[in-house]
Amino acid sequence: MQENQRKTILSGITPSGRLHIGNYFGAMRQHLEFIEKGDAFYFIANYHALTSLRDGEKLADYTLDVAIDYLSLGLDPDRCTFFAQSDVPAVTELAWMLGTLCPVSLMEKGVAYKDKVAQGLAPNIGLFTYPVLQAADILIYHSDIVPVGADQKQNLEFSRDLAQKFNNNFEGDYLKLPEPHIVKEVAVVPGIDGRKMSKSYNNHIFIFDEGNVLKKKVMSIKTDAAALEDPKDPESCNVFSLIKLFAGSEKEQEIRDAYLAGGYGYGHAKKELLELISSFFEQARDRRRTFENRKDTVRDILREGGRKARARAGQVMAPVREATGIIRTHS
Ligand code: ADP
Ligand code: TRP
Repeated sequence: MQENQRKTILSGITPSGRLHIGNYFGAMRQHLEFIEKGDAFYFIANYHALTSLRDGEKLADYTLDVAIDYLSLGLDPDRCTFFAQSDVPAVTELAWMLGTLCPVSLMEKGVAYKDKVAQGLAPNIGLFTYPVLQAADILIYHSDIVPVGADQKQNLEFSRDLAQKFNNNFEGDYLKLPEPHIVKEVAVVPGIDGRKMSKSYNNHIFIFDEGNVLKKKVMSIKTDAAALEDPKDPESCNVFSLIKLFAGSEKEQEIRDAYLAGGYGYGHAKKELLELISSFFEQARDRRRTFENRKDTVRDILREGGRKARARAGQVMAPVREATGIIRTHS
């Protein structure tokens, strides 16, 4: 295959629910910024979502919903390859091949797997081999850089490990070892109860929450019991942690000073946060209303992205099939 000068950037997001502001600051914002830096491939990991969501109507809805969210937040489909994972079925083929080289003991080290089982999710084979499919997602496009949140670090190590095992076994540079790009500046975004914001904890603020729903969530963010007149520590306050994400540096400093001075209550801070969130996503909300009425356009965008992604995957898979001896009698 002709080597591309530009780096290939790839990431995926699982459509197992609506997207929240933890997803935005921890993942999506970086994805949008990375489009400038190379050939970006972003996909909606609907096969992965099946490990926890088995309701066809919901999965199809969430898949389109996540696509609309990305497009509304400014992803330009003409400047990257944006598609649904399932439009490149060869990833499941590569996942199978990688699985045959993957020791069970490697997957047994999976922290995400262990966490999910600890949370009470039934340990099915899909969940267990989730990182193998993720490796196939990455390796099938010869990805160079994979921007992800810190929780994905181990999955990236598994991907490198599996690529290496494949290349060693078949004695060639069939698969490229990807580099993770872990975003360090964004600490974990707290949810309204102060734990990591997550759809599993039901403590989220969705990116496109608005009106009373948004207000109710912001007003219920957990704070300590300090009185209005008390000086307060901004750095240990959940409301302030969120304010920092949305405010410019000047506004952030102004609110920090108000916390430290006292006479500024959590109610004030929450009102400020509510306004910041509303205006931050205002444009995106407008765009979302437009896309919601143009779902066919969204499907067309995904279809076109799928076509481009399949073409790239085909180039990587041809030598992989030859090396493994998996013959195909059709194209
Ligand atoms: P959830 O915990 O809601 O199930 P996912 O695991 O689907 O979220 O996360 C998708 C992406 O969003 C990942 O790259 C992850 O690192 C990022 N992310 C999720 N929640 C947060 C958070 N609270 N803070 C920072 N990043 C997050
Ligand atoms: N596991 C990732 C998450 O939960 C989603 C994902 C699937 C992914 N395949 C990927 C991310 C490939 C990066 C590359 O966020």
